[in-house]
Amino acid sequence: MLSLRIVLALLPSIGMGMQAPVSSFPSPPAAAAPGVSGQAPPRTPDVHFVPTPTAVVDAMLKLANVTSSDVIYDLGSGDGRIVITAAQKFGARGVGIELDRQLVSEANKKASKAGVADKVTFLSTDLFKADISEATVVTLYLLPSINLRLQPKLMRELKPGTRIVSHRFDMGEWKPEQEAIVGSVHVFLWTIPDKRTP
Ligand SMILES: C[S@@+](CC[C@H](N)C(=O)[O-])C[C@H]1O[C@@H](n2cnc3c(N)ncnc32)[C@H](O)[C@@H]1O
Repeated sequence: MLSLRIVLALLPSIGMGMQAPVSSFPSPPAAAAPGVSGQAPPRTPDVHFVPTPTAVVDAMLKLANVTSSDVIYDLGSGDGRIVITAAQKFGARGVGIELDRQLVSEANKKASKAGVADKVTFLSTDLFKADISEATVVTLYLLPSINLRLQPKLMRELKPGTRIVSHRFDMGEWKPEQEAIVGSVHVFLWTIPDKRTP
């Protein structure tokens, strides 16, 4: 009788012990499961990684007048250099959105090395699907066609007063309010208008 009670008392913990590691294992995001039946393959980036030169990064942050109260989102953040520089030089908080997981991992290493890991976050996700509503500054180095595709999202999700800076590529009909030239490279600035004005 006594031994039966011990076995019964032990049963729930034995069961939990077997289930816990399985049930607590996080499900991989769809993009991380190539080859798994029924899962979407990782999405191909819309443009390859080409880093913004340091002088141009500095000009972009200056044109956007970045300060420590800003939250800067780099859409297609590559190795993270723009948000890392904004955190290092201005104390801004930053979020990098990047499809390529290897670049996200590189950016995280660089942020730690630069001592700003507590100020920046890198998310491995599609820039068209990311929630960018908390940004006060958005930086872009994409392509003219991607800027145009992105424009409705920027208008819809960003707060009035949010600055957008683009390295090299403009926004077609939406004319920039300022422009800087670094060597032969153009950098453009727009501000999200007050949505109450027509
Ligand atoms: C030209 S690089 C710019 C990198 C960085 N912003 C800079 O200026 O140094 C563009 C980056 O966007 C990423 N990218 C392309 N399409 C993307 C998408 N749909 N969502 C997230 N990242 C994307 C690429 O992997 C690449 O790293």
